[in-house]
Amino acid sequence: MARDAGTSAFDIPSVDPALMSEVLEGLSRPQKALPPKLFYDERGSRLFELICEQPEYYIPATETALLRAHAADLAAFCGPRCVVLEPGAGTAEKTPILLGALDQPAAYMPIEISETALDICVNNLASLMPGLRVHPVCADFTRPFGLPRIENAHWRRRVVFVPGSTIGNFEPLMARRLLAEWQALAGPHGALIIGVDLRKPRAILERAYDDEAGVTAAFNLNMLEHLNRDFGANFNLDGFAHRAIFNDELSRIEMHLVSKRPQRVRIGSRSFVFAAGETLHTENSYKYTPADFAELALSAGWGRRELWIDDGDLFSLQCFEAIG
Ligand code: TRP
Repeated sequence: MARDAGTSAFDIPSVDPALMSEVLEGLSRPQKALPPKLFYDERGSRLFELICEQPEYYIPATETALLRAHAADLAAFCGPRCVVLEPGAGTAEKTPILLGALDQPAAYMPIEISETALDICVNNLASLMPGLRVHPVCADFTRPFGLPRIENAHWRRRVVFVPGSTIGNFEPLMARRLLAEWQALAGPHGALIIGVDLRKPRAILERAYDDEAGVTAAFNLNMLEHLNRDFGANFNLDGFAHRAIFNDELSRIEMHLVSKRPQRVRIGSRSFVFAAGETLHTENSYKYTPADFAELALSAGWGRRELWIDDGDLFSLQCFEAIG
């Protein structure tokens, strides 16, 4: 009997063909790789929230403390009646700390690809700050998008807010491109408030991305479950293990899934061979020194005005203004 006769990976209903091509192309490379956006199906989004509660993953708690400690400084930096734009807002957990500190914020514009996350964000803010104008934009912030007009509001300045380690997930060249785009988005006299995770000893970084409870491991492996469920793949989850390694030369944490034995995996009508020990690269998280990040931002037209770091030298919150 003909196997898979007439079907191809592209025939699975509800799979975005562009995303499927990306998956197949990534699995065809010498270093197999999958796009990080595949992390965030429903289970993945829940697991990510759990990661943020793990003691080893220092980013959320450290950044929240920095935002609270410098709320008054942030308000002074932004000035009155600013418009806050947040690319990749997610559910905007930390944003109320900033918005609540500002002097008469004119509007808030979350830009988020996930409609579910955007709804949660909008509802959250409506209950926390009922007087605030919120203009959600459902878009992929790495692609061109339009901004809604703000009617009848006197605003003075646009501030782009990028907390978390969003910028760290992009290659430095792409990070610079995004920083330049945010400069255009913020316009004349625009400002940027950004979270930047710092270079630090390997042991701290590798623990942060491989917590004791195994939540990050489950999150990474969930990408394979996502492919099995929605893309018709047949990954055997017992055949792969989570690995987080700090690549010192490139200053990034790399997330991999290691094949525990030689195996073959099918997606639709395609199949891919894994050698024992071969890895599938799923994500990078770049770590910067304060000086390196200032230089990168400067090359995109941003001059640094503030740099705040926690006592443990883990994470930084940085403020920039458009120059020129
Ligand atoms: N992308 C974020 C970061 O680099 C979130 C994250 C935490 C993450 N743990 C992860 C992403 C594990 C992929 C895999 O910090």
